[in-house]
Amino acid sequence: MSNKKLWAGRFSEPTDAFVEAFTASVEFDQRLAPYDIQGSIAHATMLAEQDILTEQEKTLIINGLQSIQTQIEAGDFQWSIGLEDVHMNVEAALTDLIGDTGKKLHTGRSRNDQVATDIRLWLRDEIQVIQAELRRLQQGLLDVAEREASTILPGFTHLQTAQPITFGHHMMAWFEMLQRDYSRLQDCAQRMNQMPLGAAALAGTTYPIDRYATASFLDFDAPCRNSLDAVSDRDFAIEFTAAASLVMVHLSRMSEELIIWSSAQFHFITLSDSFCTGSSIMPQKKNPDVPELVRGKTGRIFGHLMGLLTLMKAQPLAYNKDNQEDKEPLFDAVDHVKGSVRIFADMLPALTCHRENMRQAARQGFSTATDLADYLVRRGIAFRDAHEIVGQAVAYGINKNCDLAELDLAELRQFSPCIEQDVFDYLTLEGSVSARQHIGGTAPEQVKAAIKLARTLIAD
Ligand code: ARG
Repeated sequence: MSNKKLWAGRFSEPTDAFVEAFTASVEFDQRLAPYDIQGSIAHATMLAEQDILTEQEKTLIINGLQSIQTQIEAGDFQWSIGLEDVHMNVEAALTDLIGDTGKKLHTGRSRNDQVATDIRLWLRDEIQVIQAELRRLQQGLLDVAEREASTILPGFTHLQTAQPITFGHHMMAWFEMLQRDYSRLQDCAQRMNQMPLGAAALAGTTYPIDRYATASFLDFDAPCRNSLDAVSDRDFAIEFTAAASLVMVHLSRMSEELIIWSSAQFHFITLSDSFCTGSSIMPQKKNPDVPELVRGKTGRIFGHLMGLLTLMKAQPLAYNKDNQEDKEPLFDAVDHVKGSVRIFADMLPALTCHRENMRQAARQGFSTATDLADYLVRRGIAFRDAHEIVGQAVAYGINKNCDLAELDLAELRQFSPCIEQDVFDYLTLEGSVSARQHIGGTAPEQVKAAIKLARTLIAD
């Protein structure tokens, strides 16, 4: 293939070899090729409809592009650094293949509107894949939540035992986080779905193009309304990376809990062997590598968000070469978020709960102290006084090394004569969780209702 630069007309000296390598993007932007070709086919189709190309020229161009696509898919395409980027590689290959007609494809177009379009087309597809993986993960969470709707474990604040909760309720908290992530990605995809083509280099083009036609061929909602904005802004990439960062925040929080829960000290859960690895020196080890690695990758995605924000900051209108630096962080963010959600979706349904250990843990740390205070309030004692009374009972229990439910009635009545035999209905773990009977509460019935609603929310 000819390596002649497509912009060489006004130059008299060749490009310095290192400058050529330094400014080229083809090594990474070649993954946009299918979208570049899709955009070119739409553009050529519109040009023919507008009589800017003949039908024959259009057919020649489209057939040529399709055969280049086949070569790329087969790994037979020769990428050239001298041709700088994916756009010029494809265009030069087209002209090599079909002759001078290939040179007409770039009529009314610039690489500036071309690249802005390609990234949007690509990201739109990738967002759909990530959303599908999120749905699969949510589905898995619902199944675990259903199975463990009545399983009791301690709920924590400050990582100190707070109140008993159900494991299903905990899974549903994760579900909600991911539900917001899904809708953030949806918003981002929708805002992004406007087409830059037609903006050309920055000011639009003098040809009688039909931007609505091209937009509809490419399934965009509309053409971008301002040509300068269309070629220059990468806010959609930043917005995606921000949404992706929140996905990672959530996965890293889930990771942290899975890691703590699978420690020998907690032993609330066991992760399936297929998602753990061993140690080369300590034979007993089974490490939760997958959640650890996902937690680690979170930093990498935040880094890409910072990188993209900084890349865009203070760029004057319209296109600047700075924007070529958008691709690697964006590609990497997509790859690693997609991989992280996918591996979580595979891993979570295979989690085993050690119900007895969770229960034992919930019996420690006076997790039903608030229930005793609420009991006293129902007997006419002011909450602050009830709090004080229960505090004294807890101090007594600590001394005796007993949970509140293990004290007998006489012992409890030392702290308040209002306490009667029925107090034990409230001091048990089941009593505590099932008393939280309102929407959003941890009672097993509420969890089951939440699961039922959630299944309808994610049904497509
Ligand atoms: N490779 C370039 C990029 O990624 C394509 C656009 C180049 N435009 C230009 N005028 N140099 O941004």
